[in-house]
Amino acid sequence: MSITNRQVAPRGTAPGASAFPGPPGGRQETALGAPGGGPERGGLGGSSPRAGTDAVRLAGVSKRYGTGARAVLALDQVSLTVAQGEFVCLIGASGCGKSTLLSLVAGLDAPTVGEVSVGGRRVAMMFQEAALLPWLTAASNVELALRARGVPKAERRHRTGELLRMVRLEGFGGKRPHELSGGMRQRVALARALAQDADVLLMDEPFGALDAMTRDLLHEELGRICAEQNLTVLFVTHNVREAVRLGDRVVVLSSRPGRVIEEYRVPGDWSRGIDSAQTARLAGAITERLREEMRRHGH
Ligand SMILES: Nc1ncnc2c1ncn2[C@@H]1O[C@H](COP(=O)(O)OP(=O)(O)OP(=O)(O)O)[C@@H](O)[C@H]1O
Ligand SMILES: [Mg+2]
Repeated sequence: MSITNRQVAPRGTAPGASAFPGPPGGRQETALGAPGGGPERGGLGGSSPRAGTDAVRLAGVSKRYGTGARAVLALDQVSLTVAQGEFVCLIGASGCGKSTLLSLVAGLDAPTVGEVSVGGRRVAMMFQEAALLPWLTAASNVELALRARGVPKAERRHRTGELLRMVRLEGFGGKRPHELSGGMRQRVALARALAQDADVLLMDEPFGALDAMTRDLLHEELGRICAEQNLTVLFVTHNVREAVRLGDRVVVLSSRPGRVIEEYRVPGDWSRGIDSAQTARLAGAITERLREEMRRHGH
């Protein structure tokens, strides 16, 4: 499964989310069906899964851990769709089920109730810590993901070079993880995720441990790569500005159990700088919504 000939959903045109300023009182459901469409674009090789449909779909998903008195309801009736090529940021209080949601989409765990579907797409995951193999070089860490996919040796070397260039790590392939900065290690982790030839990239606070400058640079890189590769992204963050900076849509979850309480569309023609007035204004509105939710839960 790979991503050639997938249709490009223009950024910021996903159906159904509310637009800033100020969403209406209740949450709006995202509509199912094809995104706006667009030019065909070549991917990393292979044939298209299902061009023009939603890439990720959660319908009435609840997740309970454990049983009896000790059971924890992590997610409650979550319905969410992510259009192909769309970048959706998930934000919510600690423990509200964001990582749980990603693990369900990744197929690492199953929902207690409801359905999760990625339509047969390939899914890759990236975490807060790069989790590279310390005894392997940056290039070998990336190449390992290609080997796992059965890419022939001759091709692997070439593709590893391409991927390292894509994340601007040309010339660093021979370094081991401890010789790289935190930002560089996350770039290697991103290259490794891209090496999996995924259609859907799940990112769990991938830049949470980085300083603001490095994070800013990586935002730019990620935005560029996702647009080039037409990736569908579900990105978890605690940083509201980061969510507005990167997302076509920002989905706010309630405190545990996580439910979708609000969605904000980020207009595609906005200046996306993390310090732009538009970013700050929308981030302010989302932060206020989060505070309101936390007050409701007595935080
Ligand atoms: N494997 C598990 N077994 C039991 N309980 C779990 C498991 N994984 C998560 N939980 C519980 O489910 C709830 C949601 O956890 P989750 O890790 O999804 O939250 P989160 O939103 O990602 O939090 P954070 O922002 O702190 O990363 C928490 O109460 C957590 O303790
Ligand atoms: Mg988490």
